[in-house]
Amino acid sequence: MVNQHLIDIKQKALKDFHAAKNSQELYQFKVQYLGKTGALTEAMKMMATLPKEEKPLFGKQVNEVKAELETAYTGVEATLQRAEIDAKMLNEKLDLTLSVNAHEMGHEHPIYKVTNEIFSIMARLGYSLRTGPLIEKDYYNFEALNIPPDHPARDMQDTFFVDETHVLRTHTSPIQIHSLENEKPPLRVIGTGPVFRVDSDISHLPNFHQIEGMCVDKKISMADLKGTISFFVREFFGPGLKTRFRPSFFPFTEPSAEVDCSCPICKSKGCSLCKQTGWIEIGGCGLINPKVFESAKVPYPEWQGFAFGFGVERMAIIKYGVDDIRHFPKNDVRFLKQFSQN
Ligand code: PHE
Repeated sequence: MVNQHLIDIKQKALKDFHAAKNSQELYQFKVQYLGKTGALTEAMKMMATLPKEEKPLFGKQVNEVKAELETAYTGVEATLQRAEIDAKMLNEKLDLTLSVNAHEMGHEHPIYKVTNEIFSIMARLGYSLRTGPLIEKDYYNFEALNIPPDHPARDMQDTFFVDETHVLRTHTSPIQIHSLENEKPPLRVIGTGPVFRVDSDISHLPNFHQIEGMCVDKKISMADLKGTISFFVREFFGPGLKTRFRPSFFPFTEPSAEVDCSCPICKSKGCSLCKQTGWIEIGGCGLINPKVFESAKVPYPEWQGFAFGFGVERMAIIKYGVDDIRHFPKNDVRFLKQFSQN
């Protein structure tokens, strides 16, 4: 015969287990009946009051009730937990159709895009890349390029002086001197990077980029220069734009010319960007002045050459029809994004 007290505990416990509203409440019931100070543990203490011969049976019955309650507990717990997870899943519904804020791919700044395009065109003509310091000795920026200290040509470029003998380079032409000093002709070099001038308006920046090209070989003429630049300009802009060579003056080239492209904004009709002329100047060029060869100790006329220097922003403006050069250094993504596909 099963002890009535144990039967009562079991029935009450089973009733409570099944009535539990959630797993937390169920656990409280488990503690209440099966815990260290729970009803069943207390019932065990009754054993001491029983006659000796009843003890083994009572012990066995307690263990059986305990096992039965534990099994019941595990079953109810599983049911409640499953229901809780289901409810949680319903509340925390994941909307997989929501578009994710994906990371956008970056791309080259238009100035580097243009620069790289120019390199690849010039590489096809055998030109290779050179660099030079941004802070130049006065000698490399001016003197070696036949611009002595009192030369009026220094007025052509308003210079940022670092100290008495150093300047922020005003053009990339010092790269010509570095190459002539360090390398043996024949040479076909192309250099690039920032240059600095005290200047700022719709078509000028104080910090802009230039491309410098130099070819040194035997018997170089204006025809080689014109042929190279015409090829380069046609490859870069496509056949739609017109170019012209205008006689000009640079102390480091003789003869010298300036290269203009037809204005893409107004289609040569005249606008504020081209200053109503219909043409935009992209840079200068000419045959290397013998004085430059002399400074760099390269024998002339055994070696001759031509050089050119173009404004990268100017070329980008013409190619993409940008109406203000000041867009380039601003780094406004709305502007920059327009160059991601081109
Ligand atoms: N350095 C000149 C300038 O900045 C451009 C130039 C380069 C002209 C090479 C002739 C030859 O205006």
